[in-house]
Amino acid sequence: MARPDPKPSEGEDAFTRLAALVAPELAAVDRTIRERMASEHAPRIPELSAHLIEAGGKRLRPVLTLAAAKLCGYEGDHQVKLAAAVEFIHTATLLHDDVVDESAKRRGRPTANILFGNQQSVLVGDYLFARSFRLMVETGSLRVLDILADASAVIAEGEVLQLTAQHDLSGGEPRYFQVIRGKTAALFAAAAEVGGVVAGAEEAKVAALRDYGDALGIAFQLIDDFLDYGGSAAAMGKNVGDDFREGKATLPVLIAHAEGDAEERAFWSRVIEEHEQEEGDLAAALRLFARHDALGRTRQRAEDWAARAVAALEVFPDSEMKRALADIAEFVVARGR
Ligand code: IPE
Ligand code: IPE
Ligand code: MG
Ligand code: MG
Repeated sequence: MARPDPKPSEGEDAFTRLAALVAPELAAVDRTIRERMASEHAPRIPELSAHLIEAGGKRLRPVLTLAAAKLCGYEGDHQVKLAAAVEFIHTATLLHDDVVDESAKRRGRPTANILFGNQQSVLVGDYLFARSFRLMVETGSLRVLDILADASAVIAEGEVLQLTAQHDLSGGEPRYFQVIRGKTAALFAAAAEVGGVVAGAEEAKVAALRDYGDALGIAFQLIDDFLDYGGSAAAMGKNVGDDFREGKATLPVLIAHAEGDAEERAFWSRVIEEHEQEEGDLAAALRLFARHDALGRTRQRAEDWAARAVAALEVFPDSEMKRALADIAEFVVARGR
């Protein structure tokens, strides 16, 4: 007897539907990941990688690669290697990011840096990057190597820019968007683009996939930054309020700071720029957000970018895959509802 539907939210449903359209390829990606994270000489590498990889993760970026290739009518199997490479890059950046952010929780588990230490996390991240390049080389396409090598560099640039800009509100929205485009949207854009490239799609379609991924990635990070204040640790699998404690100038803070009166600006300057935080400051920050609707406006910006992602798909004729990719934009912002 069929089990009753678990009634997922509209958004989760969209992701499940897209993943179902590429289910066999996604299973092959997981097999490739497991094979390629092995290391003959340093068993700590698969041990540490498995800790993170087997905790799940949405596999959103590899699904984008698989779906983009299918949308463009690809019938070969190189997209599996590319999707695995994309997830390796993502995993490597998470390992490094949790060291940099001193985060304690990821995918509902203690982070690798907590369990194995910073040194191991950094080195295993490097190993996964190297493995991802190996996978790209096996596809024989210099163009995908070009795209994913660039994306890897841009992610690192975004993370470094964010570090230099930490505790600094002066860069405002332009710098915030520069950071999130780099650290997050670059990989979404590349993941979608290489799907088109491996399929040999015409240039207008490859460009459209790139624009789609870029806009989707921006929407995704906006919601992530929204959730850091407005979400629940249980639903996210990471701690709430980390961005505040780290003094990050994310969009809700920038909005509240830009619109605050002198007293409010002094508060933001103390907690973010001088990074002097006291008991009760997070609650005070949330009250200021409410006064300026900073979280609601952050979510609205995410919705605008999600709409741009959908618009980018216009060049494709109607299909089930196109609709599923458009609905993913809904999934991304639904996390913030
Ligand atoms: C986390 O990405 C890193 C960000 C860009 C915010 P995901 O939320 O896609 O992470 P997993 O892979 O599902 O854990
Ligand atoms: C993650 O950025 C970006 C990368 C993965 C490079 P964050 O630091 O904002 O994301 P979380 O909150 O740790 O997932
Ligand atoms: Mg982080
Ligand atoms: Mg970070």
